[in-house]
Amino acid sequence: MPDNAPFPHVTADAAPAMAPPARRPAHWPIVLLRALAVLVLLQVFLQAVLAGGFITGKVTFLGLHSANGVFLVLSSMALPVAAVLLVRPGRGPWWPIVFGVVLWLLIGVQVGIGFARLVGLHIPIGMAIMALSAGLTWWAFAYRTKR
Ligand code: HEM
Repeated sequence: MPDNAPFPHVTADAAPAMAPPARRPAHWPIVLLRALAVLVLLQVFLQAVLAGGFITGKVTFLGLHSANGVFLVLSSMALPVAAVLLVRPGRGPWWPIVFGVVLWLLIGVQVGIGFARLVGLHIPIGMAIMALSAGLTWWAFAYRTKR
């Protein structure tokens, strides 16, 4: 009796079951992260421009600096959300989530320090925020989605 007696329609040379093709990681999450990183970086740069205007006598610039600071808290809040999407479905690294949360918290602290008028602390933290935002933007543009 042949080996395949119970299943006579199955022959030894039948093609093995094909595994479904592996799905590619989504590319759009890194595009979203890049767009948000650029937005945050431009807003941070605008903060320095507005602060410069205020310091040199244009008093109305402080109101704009304050409003942009609050918008910055909102736009930077979207960074860790985009970073989560970069992990799934983007299959990217996880550390940008932590980076995004830290940056968002730092910007929140910066708003508090600004309203508290602790300028000696406010300016170096502003520089640190600028460096972190620029670093994240650079990384997001250098990142390539796995194929
Ligand atoms: C990076 C993000 C920044 C945020 C979120 C932020 C936010 C704020 C906020 C909310 C205030 C209070 C405004 C008010 O009292 O109506 C403030 C004040 C101020 N900020 Fe910023 N700021 C940032 C960056 C900077 C930078 C880079 C500089 C300078 C290079 C700067 C210089 C100042 C100055 C001089 C004041 C006024 C302090 C005073 O009235 O004595 N800020 N900031």
